[in-house]
Amino acid sequence: MIDTAASTHDTWDGVDLHTLADRLGTPLYVYSASAIRDRVSSLQTALRGTDHLICFAVKANPNRGVLAFMHSQGVGADIVSAGELWRARQAGIPAEHIVFSGVGKSEAEIAEALRQGVLRFNVESHDELLLLQHIAQAQSVVARAAVRINPDVDALTHAKISTGKAENKFGVSIEEARRWFAQRDALSHVQLDGLHVHIGSQILSLEPFRQALQRVAALWRELVGQGHPIASIDVGGGLGVCYREGHDRPIDAAAYVALVREALAGFEGRLLFEPGRYLVGEAGVLLTRVIRLKQGNERTFLVIDAAMNDLARPSLYDAWHDIAPVAGDARSMISYDIVGPVCETGDTFAKARALPACAPGELLMIRSVGAYGASMASTYNSRPLAAEVLVDAGRYAVVRQRQSFEDMVAGEQPANHWETA
Ligand code: LLP
Repeated sequence: MIDTAASTHDTWDGVDLHTLADRLGTPLYVYSASAIRDRVSSLQTALRGTDHLICFAVKANPNRGVLAFMHSQGVGADIVSAGELWRARQAGIPAEHIVFSGVGKSEAEIAEALRQGVLRFNVESHDELLLLQHIAQAQSVVARAAVRINPDVDALTHAKISTGKAENKFGVSIEEARRWFAQRDALSHVQLDGLHVHIGSQILSLEPFRQALQRVAALWRELVGQGHPIASIDVGGGLGVCYREGHDRPIDAAAYVALVREALAGFEGRLLFEPGRYLVGEAGVLLTRVIRLKQGNERTFLVIDAAMNDLARPSLYDAWHDIAPVAGDARSMISYDIVGPVCETGDTFAKARALPACAPGELLMIRSVGAYGASMASTYNSRPLAAEVLVDAGRYAVVRQRQSFEDMVAGEQPANHWETA
């Protein structure tokens, strides 16, 4: 688990969390710039001497302040929609640092990404390949493409975030990829010279990566042997992080990069990486206050002011997130069910979790929420989106204002203008 240089329970990256919560209210997402910087540099250091580009998976945390910070660290973007493309460009990330992944790219999205000149399309179906050719021809440009391989390996992670098994919707089989390359010359406006693989998320063991990379490496060697040059290999994201201290054992980035280098030994093209969670997951905490304690017949509930609309992972994937009082004083431990105010039993962050005895008003932090936290938030139960703040060595900057009720309903209107269709 990240412990940024100046982080104790009371502070995060040198900023006092009680002060932040008093000034900005709760629930509040707090991201440590130092922690993100450390993660970027650990990857970059391990990759020294290779031609590489790290493309942050925008879906993990699309906040424009976070994306601009990524850009300042020399990181590009892995996008999956026109909205993510727009955000990345707004944040200053140049098109040539952007790769476009996703199984359902629409015609309009492909056209826009081509107009902007994105670095590469990670193509996931033959239909998409033909559409890309068609649109590129119409725009009189040549699209650079990689085929996303589905290597049929088990990422040994939660079923809902596994993407590299044959039964999953992602990528194409190695046999199909071979056929694409065999017919490559028919593609007048697509330069098919890349391979891409992404087998899933929150992966905590090297073995699935090894298997996937070995299959991709074998295909790369075979294709080169057949006269198909491969200019880039995109190894996706997926590196897991620690959600439960003393329990989760994330892979060391250096060991992961060593594995990539070993599997792709002799490859002289460009290596692309698409980490999301690894760069931002542990950098984020969600500050929340206890609203009240409720004694049920069987359980003691700690009702907090964050809910499943703010952080969906526990209700969606039964995900564990460490939770602790910000004030680190010694107290007796109590077993709580930690729940939010939303009207669903699924709005539960933890069951029978031992926590120091809490009183109403107590400030808590939910840890490792920097990835897929705010990015998956909704306004369910008409709860406005939480504020987000970036902290860096004792200073902070609000990167998302707390949503107002007016902003929450923006675009909605009474049905007072009827048309026929
Ligand atoms: N590249 C592609 C093509 C992806 O689909 C993803 C994530 C990534 C990269 C980044 O993966 P990461 O490095 O973050 O593992 N909402 C889920 C995670 C969904 C991941 C989707 N794809 C969660 O909260 O666990």
